[in-house]
Amino acid sequence: LAAAGSAVGLGNIWRFPYLAAKQGGGIFLLIYILLVVTFGYTIMVSEIALGRKTGQSPIGAYQSLAKRYSFIGWIAVFVAFIILSYYGVIGGWVIKYFYEFVAGHSLALTDSGFFAAFTGETWQPLLWFFLFMLMTYLVVVNGVEKGIEKVSKVLMPVLVVLSVAIAAYSAFLPGALEGIKYLFIPNFSQFTPMTLLAALGQMFYSMSLAMGIMITYGSYLQKSNDLSKCVKRIEFFDAGISILAAMMIIPAIFSFSAGDSAALSANLNQGPSLMFVTLPKVFGSMPFGGVVGAAFFLLVFFAALTSSISLMECVVSTLCDKWKLRRGPASAIVAGGAFLLGIPSSLGNGVWSSFTIFGKDFLSFFDFITNAVLMPVGALLTCLFIGYVVGVKTVSDEVKISSPFKREAMYNVMIKYIAPICIVAILVTSVLEAFGILTF
Ligand code: PFF
Repeated sequence: LAAAGSAVGLGNIWRFPYLAAKQGGGIFLLIYILLVVTFGYTIMVSEIALGRKTGQSPIGAYQSLAKRYSFIGWIAVFVAFIILSYYGVIGGWVIKYFYEFVAGHSLALTDSGFFAAFTGETWQPLLWFFLFMLMTYLVVVNGVEKGIEKVSKVLMPVLVVLSVAIAAYSAFLPGALEGIKYLFIPNFSQFTPMTLLAALGQMFYSMSLAMGIMITYGSYLQKSNDLSKCVKRIEFFDAGISILAAMMIIPAIFSFSAGDSAALSANLNQGPSLMFVTLPKVFGSMPFGGVVGAAFFLLVFFAALTSSISLMECVVSTLCDKWKLRRGPASAIVAGGAFLLGIPSSLGNGVWSSFTIFGKDFLSFFDFITNAVLMPVGALLTCLFIGYVVGVKTVSDEVKISSPFKREAMYNVMIKYIAPICIVAILVTSVLEAFGILTF
């Protein structure tokens, strides 16, 4: 459950729908699901098994199996820190929207220009970002994850129920059927290498993989727990929430664009602002939309908080273990550092929007470099480490302690050959694309 809490977050509700909208809908969904049940499964089983076997956090786990390879753990911690920095910026936007709904300003939020005007400001987004980081810090420093976990156990099912209701509502908006078709019927002509790359990055991000987080959670798992079953449940839950979020948003885009194909294409391609622009319109069109909107953003906030806690915890616990820092100072350093690093991501929507790296604003750049480059590198190293350094048996023996390992044959081939080759191919493509050598 804790691992599912880390997995389900902004990645599912904010990131997945805008990628699916942009990358061709059904074709993206199909590739995403295929990746989850093959790559995702393989890497998650590996991380949880390494954690349970060694009983350690990421760097310790690599170190105890083969000392020279502890750098893989460090890469993971570095990635977690970068993600934390911009995750907080978006977390701040979520709190702002919650506040606006509670303050009864739901009508103002339905205006398409509201989001850009708000994120383009200098101080306000920074303030909400600071608040989000502060809350994450307070939970981590006080060690009250247990409390948050209890709250999440109640709130996450509520999020599911509310999401189902909103998705059902969206499906019945006039013209929404086209959106449902777009999301569920793959159009193979829309496939580009970018679709694959985006789906791969999203899979790592959404399942909290290649960041050592699942190693940490694995270290708390009992030997009697059925490891393979746990992974399947996390996958199912995580992918389910992503699909629900896409169902809330994508049919609504088709409905609101009402046959205007230029508007439709602009809306489908809008990227990170999609959830914040489209959902308030959905709420605006329904009875009691203000209350539903407030409830929804509150639940998204909790989902985001459980994920950001896991990101911060990953970095803090490493500093405590390796640099012998106490929890208080370590948490302050990490929270303060992530806030500073996040400032460009926040300002990149406004005063710093003219600064771009590889044509991307700061937030998109950090998002790209973590999801499309560093996470695949981390995952590649994990595969090579297991396949060729410690041996696949280390993982399969660990899985078999508690249950039969039905997908063992697939696992072995995947981790030694298919995953590394595909990851390298995708990585090379993504780097060439970033340098403008390839365009899709
Ligand atoms: N999986 C989280 C989400 O989908 O929002 C984000 C995340 C949390 C990524 C923790 C990585 C991580 F280690």
